[in-house]
Amino acid sequence: MNRREALELLITLPILAGCGGGYRSFAVKEEGDILIVDIANFPNAGIATVRSKRHAFPIYVFRESSGTFSAFLGECTHKGCELQLEGSVMACPCHGSEFAANGRVLAGPATKNLLQFRTTALKDILHIHLS
Ligand code: FES
Repeated sequence: MNRREALELLITLPILAGCGGGYRSFAVKEEGDILIVDIANFPNAGIATVRSKRHAFPIYVFRESSGTFSAFLGECTHKGCELQLEGSVMACPCHGSEFAANGRVLAGPATKNLLQFRTTALKDILHIHLS
């Protein structure tokens, strides 16, 4: 196994495929501070969760119908519970905060928006910048 292969982290990636489309799984690589996602495996518009070695919480990845991506850490900004996806809303099971697909607070007690990661789409590859 070479260094690149050693750095490669294969992660099961559940995809919520739009309207009731169920889940799909595919591999994600992590190289340095970048998660690498093959866009071909992503639905036209939808939500996926990926995991990184750097974070204990999932990262929610949103693809809009325009093809743009956004990614947020699934850690509630109130007291740090793991968010759960309810439709296109990220909801906190601890005290009820809700966050929109753009990471903004929809309902408290959280007052701070979610941590957003910069994303870069390069041809068929999406980079999620973890730092
Ligand atoms: S930890 Fe999420 S609302 Fe309190």
